[in-house]
Amino acid sequence: MTNRSRRRKLLLAAVGLATLALVVAGCGPSNGQNSLDPKGVEAKKIDNLFWPVLIVAVIIGIFIFVAVAYCAIRFRRRAGNERPKQIHGNTALEIGWTLIPAVILAVIAVPTVSLIFQLNEDPPPDALKVTVVGKQWWWQFDYPASKGSTKVVTANELHVPTGREISIDLTACDASLPGGCNVIHSFWVPELNGKRDVVPGHNNHTSFTIDKPGTYLGQCAEYCGLSHANMRFRVIAQSPDDFEQWLSEQQDGPAVTLEDSGDAGELFSKTFACTNCHTTEDSSISTYGPNLTHLASRTVFASGSFQLNRANLIDWILNAPSMIPMESQDCRLPPGPGVTCVGMPSFTENTPKGDPVMTREQAETLADYLLSLK
Ligand code: CUA
Repeated sequence: MTNRSRRRKLLLAAVGLATLALVVAGCGPSNGQNSLDPKGVEAKKIDNLFWPVLIVAVIIGIFIFVAVAYCAIRFRRRAGNERPKQIHGNTALEIGWTLIPAVILAVIAVPTVSLIFQLNEDPPPDALKVTVVGKQWWWQFDYPASKGSTKVVTANELHVPTGREISIDLTACDASLPGGCNVIHSFWVPELNGKRDVVPGHNNHTSFTIDKPGTYLGQCAEYCGLSHANMRFRVIAQSPDDFEQWLSEQQDGPAVTLEDSGDAGELFSKTFACTNCHTTEDSSISTYGPNLTHLASRTVFASGSFQLNRANLIDWILNAPSMIPMESQDCRLPPGPGVTCVGMPSFTENTPKGDPVMTREQAETLADYLLSLK
């Protein structure tokens, strides 16, 4: 075998392997974030547009590849034709290859533009309104007060009823907190709808409608700092009855008050001043950290990064920055110039002078208290 044909075979084998790898990668088990496996009404509409456009693109792509390969082989350099016949400005060809793509794009634009408008239509009057606030690095969900009931503020798990449009206002500014504006994020639940940016100073809007109860995984899709990749959330779709029950439980006061929780209350509100950033007493207000009034009703915490269980929670309370990256070294210092505080501080490392270091026993007391907040 000559060197040249060996090289050609190697190249062909490499291209074949790469293609196979791509195909196999697309066949993996569902990871719950597959936008080609749409579950919401809006995602299905996007999917119904995606496939025809993809098919047209693939047909054109194959045609171009074949034409290029044919020309490269048929008109390759041979003895006697080192300098091929030069042609310039074939008018018919020029017009043809300008017009044909223009017509194809114009045809594809009709359903695309119409779907863009459809997805941005005003929500129907019976839609459930939720405000999503992007924070570093977790999501806050605000359910407005309705029918004499109070507002509900929760984190990381967005409960919604099935069969009803969920109309979502997206903001990176928490109006109820001084200095409550955050950086840009992007709200994305691949199986429910496309990405939508969450921008400081400009409220965006998105929506989804889910037919079947289930859990749908979401993810921040715009780089927003150290723990961008950990900024997850889940959409939990329930039957309308289950949802109403969940909402009314969230509207209740805490299962146990700080005052009645003995040592834990003291540790939470005084010793470690957790109340600077969290509340466990009122599910209707927003705070710098997640509202913990009904923490124990959630399945995950730390922006969906960890299962909510006693062992994980104790580790987190002791030294959260060791579990996900945060810029929280100064979080126990009073605010001031040069003090950066984003995320949950460690209570066992870099403890500022004069501030207490947390023992495992104290963390266990706090975890047991938090886990009683159903
Ligand atoms: Cu928030 Cu990336």
